[in-house]
Formats: sequence, structure tokens, C-alpha cells
Amino acid sequence: MENKILNLRELLNKYNYEYHVLDTPTIDDIEYDSLMRQLIELELQNPQFDDPNSPTHRVGSTVLSQFDKVQHIILMLSLGNVFNYDELSDFIDKIKKEIGECQFVAECKIDGLAMSLTYDNNEFIQGVTRGDGTIGENVTSNIKTVKSVPLKIDYVNTLQVRGEIFMPKKSFNKLNKIREENGDELFANCRNAAAGSIRQLNSKICASRNLDGFWYHLPQGEKYGIDNHYDSLMFIDKLGFKVNKKYTRLFNNVDEIWQFIMELTEIREELPFDIDGVVIKVNNFKQQEKLGYTAKFPKWAVAYKFPALQVITKLEDIFITVGRTGKITPNAKLEQVFVAGTKVGFAQLHNEDIIKSKDIRINDYVIIRKAGDIIPEVVSSIKERRDDTQIEYVFPTHCPICGHKIYRYEKEAHHYCINVDCPARVVESIAHFASRDAMNIDTLGIKKVEAFHNNGWLNKIEDIFSLSKYETQICDAPGFGKKSYNNLIESIEISKQNSLEKILNGLGIKQVGDKASKVLAKHFKNIDALINAEIFQLETIRDIGSITAVAIYDYFNETSNLEMIQVLKDNHVNLIYLGEQVQESVFSGKNIVLTGSLNVYNRKEATALLEKLGANVVGSVSAKTSLVIYGESAGSKLKKANELNIDTMSEDDFVSLVKQYD
Ligand code: IVH
Repeated sequence: MENKILNLRELLNKYNYEYHVLDTPTIDDIEYDSLMRQLIELELQNPQFDDPNSPTHRVGSTVLSQFDKVQHIILMLSLGNVFNYDELSDFIDKIKKEIGECQFVAECKIDGLAMSLTYDNNEFIQGVTRGDGTIGENVTSNIKTVKSVPLKIDYVNTLQVRGEIFMPKKSFNKLNKIREENGDELFANCRNAAAGSIRQLNSKICASRNLDGFWYHLPQGEKYGIDNHYDSLMFIDKLGFKVNKKYTRLFNNVDEIWQFIMELTEIREELPFDIDGVVIKVNNFKQQEKLGYTAKFPKWAVAYKFPALQVITKLEDIFITVGRTGKITPNAKLEQVFVAGTKVGFAQLHNEDIIKSKDIRINDYVIIRKAGDIIPEVVSSIKERRDDTQIEYVFPTHCPICGHKIYRYEKEAHHYCINVDCPARVVESIAHFASRDAMNIDTLGIKKVEAFHNNGWLNKIEDIFSLSKYETQICDAPGFGKKSYNNLIESIEISKQNSLEKILNGLGIKQVGDKASKVLAKHFKNIDALINAEIFQLETIRDIGSITAVAIYDYFNETSNLEMIQVLKDNHVNLIYLGEQVQESVFSGKNIVLTGSLNVYNRKEATALLEKLGANVVGSVSAKTSLVIYGESAGSKLKKANELNIDTMSEDDFVSLVKQYD
């Protein structure tokens, strides 16, 4: 019987390792569950063969009243930080000055909790948090629930490995979704969620959190007959520990390391786990020893920290904006902070439910997140920093702009101001009509629309085309003059030549944005055909769903909209689809990838330009790619292009080439 139990344990450990460490399962979940049930049954019937490291204990069974304190025999040190190329370069220079040429290992700085694992006699015996570096907490029962942590290893003497316990982004999103549904407070980020889970006294709760771990340090590596860090990682990898091999690399100089940092900067958001930087370590143990330690840090390693994507600041006020559809959006006014290199003074709060579920109050300290190009948002409020100045936000019942009662429709998260004459809606919709993706009247931005509306010159979209009535007044208006008036009228005149899809996008028909406008213009060719279309005809068009079809139909059945279109016609605004206007160029027929951050044009503009010049803009580099255009901090895509011998072009060269086709 004992043999059967031992065999089952071995088998389950193997399958577990294949699934959670190698990410290549060899059996399906049903088979695994059935073997696990067999083992549970046998262990219940034969308690004399119990083993605290049996895979059956991974589901968590211990409930503690507190975690015991454990002293770290080998201190758990932290790392010094660098924040840019120059600081990293100084660090590397200093090291080379002291020890001569050397190799470095660079690896992801995992954003989790540092942990020390001890094994003896082939068995996992203890997991301890970093604590203050000298004394940590014994969280062994929780570590056992982390499925990628081996509970048995093929090494008989004492062995300690260190690394990071983290919560994968997928587990984090799942967990927060459940917490939201249950009305529980949300975790601000993966690290807090991992920390909260490891501190659970009931290991069953920890088991349900799906934590994971990467192991990146083998203290006293020489003890194992190894003479460098990289090999020590390969050694623990062979023993069954999860090592982040894909992003652990050897380098000789600062430029190579910087290139790796840029690569990780570009892909960090796509990784399945959070990283907050890159750790750079001298590879050779002897050289590490020579460099030694300060009181807090090893001198042979440093952490490059990414610019923060999340920061804490004070929420000073909540105010409402009204969109062109009447949508009411609450926004946070913040004490200004720098997030990921840009100044942030405002953040989105989305809707009333989000303010309530996150319990965000005026004067709260809040965590702000800015990811990529997305508008910053408030992640959570920090309850521990509350004093008695916080004020609960009362969502308005009336539009703060026009005073009309606001409505929230069933199943809708947002409130709407349904007054079509609401000045905010009017201004937003006129500004939208003039915006770049619509009529592209670049001399008529929202501030101007607002001012003209306040003066009574612009009350409806079609008023744009009779602004010349107010020539004298506009020329005399503060901050205006004859020249800017002329520029304004000229760009309005030019806009009359736009192809139909630009006008359609500008009208602000519900559900009809950039893409649907193109589809409709291409299909109907002129506005009258579209006006006369029945719902069933609209529905048959690819990319137009039934909700959009109804919205379009309703829009063109509204007398005021038809009157507006008549005014556009009277003003000789082109309402015909002018077809794809593709210009022959050096980019024609090429598959082009854009990478890195572009300064002159943004992604959308560069893509539109290239498409106009006959190119096909694609997302990823492959053998079929003809050209990669790179901006600042380009990383993996540029590297791949070089590896595949694909032509590359800097943004500067691209900009000067494009100018030739103006
Ligand atoms: S090496 C003596 N490597 O970053 C070696 N640390 O800011 C010290 N961390 O406390 C650690 N990923 O919790 C190392 N690949 C990595 C790391 C890493 C994350 C954490 C670790 C450390 C903190 C220092």
C-alpha cells in the first residue's frame, strides 16, 4: 500500500511540475483530478503513511493563529536602485574599475514578495518572508499551496533558494472580479494581492489565490560546486524550481544591458506577471565576493526601476463632464503628480458605481494608474490615510451644465443628460464634428467652439458653415483677429471637400465611429442612399450590427437631422464617397511595422499616413514584414527585424520621406 501511495505522489508531483513550472502539461485536468482523489482516499485510509509534503496538502489545511518569527541565518538584502542609462552606466563603470572586465546577468525584477525557501533531506521544510531582512515570518503552510514550488527535490543536503512569490495578472483580475461581485475591497495591484494572500492564516484561502513564484538567488552558490550566478540558476532550474529563463540573459557591457531593458520596457505590459524593473548582477561569484556589500545592499547587483505607472496622490475634488451623447462622467481633480514621466492632474472615475465600490471620497489619498496612452484612472483609495477631512461624494441628480434632470437607463452604468440643447452636449458635438478624425477643421478646437457658442454664433453643427455672418464680431473677439478668422474660414472651406465617411463620423450617430463610417460610406456611396436605407438593408452590411442599424435608421428619421443635412447640401458640403485615395509611394505594397515611441506623429496618424501611401501597417514582425519604422526606446520588434535582416528606418527618416508626398 505504501508503494502505491508513494507512486501516486511521485506521479502527481511530476504532472504538477509539468503544468506549473514547465507550462507543458502531459495529462488533462480530469485525469489529474482522478489521481488526486485516489491519493486522498488512500491517505485517509492509511494515516500512518501521511507526509506533510504530499501533493494532497497543496489545497491548504492549516489554520494558524499567527506566523512564527524566523531569523535569517543569511541576511536577505535589498538592492540599490538606478533610474536611467547614466546611473546604470556609472554602476557598471565603477564595478569594472574595481574588478576589471566581467560578465553581468540581467533578469526581470518581479513585483511580488521576497521569500526564502529551505530544503533538507530532499524535502521542503520552510518558507520565510523577507521581513526586515533579519527576521521574517514562517509562512510554510501557505508556500505549500503555491503549486509551482517543489515540495520534494533531488538534493539531499540543506539547500536554500530565494526568489519572489507573485500573483499572476490573470489570477489577480479573476480575484478582483470576484471581490467586486461580493462587494469586497479590491486589491490595488498584483503585489498587494500576493502579500495579502501570503499573510492569510488559513492556508485554504491562500491556496485559492493561485500564487506563483520565480527563484533567482542561490545563497552561497560555491557550496554546490558552482562558480557563477547564471549556472546557479540553471542548477536550481534542474532541481525543479521555476526560473524566469526566458528573460534572464548574460551581457558584457552597459549598452547590451540597456537594449535588454528597453526590450522589457516595451513588452512589460504583455507579460503574464508584473515586473517593476530589471536586476543586474555580476555573474562570477569570486568577483561578487571581491566587490562585497554595503550595510544594506550587495555591491555586485543593482535594480533598474521602471518609471512608476502607479503613484499616490491626493484627490482634491470630483467634477462632472458631459459628453456629446449626454453621457455624464465623473472625474477626479488631483494634486499634480508625475506618472510614467508625464504630469497628471486629472483622472477618470468612470461612473457612480465605481466611485461607490472603490469607496472614493473627496480628500482621499488615492492610487493613480497610467498605462500606455490610456487616460489615468483612480485604482483605489487608501483608507489607512484617512483623517476626518474626507467627504463622501453625492452623485448629482441634475446636469451640472444645464440643470436638466439626469437619467440612468436600466443595465447602463452611466447617467445621461437627455436635454439635446444642453450647452455641454452642443459644444462637445460641434467640436467632435470639427475634430481631426471627422471634418478635420483644425482651427476650430473645443475652446473656440465653447467661446463661439457662448456668444451665440455656434448653436448647431451646421452653423459652422455660416460663421462668416459674424466676421466682424469674430475678428474683434479677444485673442482673435483678421488672420485667424481667415485661417478658420479657409479650413472650413477645405473641409467641404471631405469624403462622405468624414462627415458621417462627425455627425455623432450613436454606435457609428470611425470604422462604421468608412463601411457605410463605401457601401452607400452618397448620403441620400444611406438616408433611404431600411433597417434590414443596413443589417446585411458586414460590420454593422442590428443595434447600429437601428441607431442609423432612427437618426435619419429625425426631422432636425434631415434639416441639418439640407443645410450642409446648401453650403456645398460634399456628401459623396470619394473612394480610397491611395498615393503611389516608396511604401506602396509594403508590410510595415511601427515600433517604439514616435514623437512627430502618433501611432494612429503614422498608420493613416502610411495607408494613404499604399502601405499595409501590421502589428508584429515576421518574415513577411518589409520594413520596421522605429521611434525612441524601440525594443524587441526592432531587434527581431535586425535578426531577420528586415529593412529598418528611423522616425526622422520616415518623417522626411513622408514630407515628399505632401
Ligand atoms: S536579487 C542579494 N533578483 O527586489 C540578492 N531581487 O528591491 C538580492 N526582486 O528584495 C535580490 N526580482 O524582493 C533579485 N530577479 C531578482 C528580483 C529581485 C525581484 C526583489 C527582491 C528584493 C527587491 C530589491
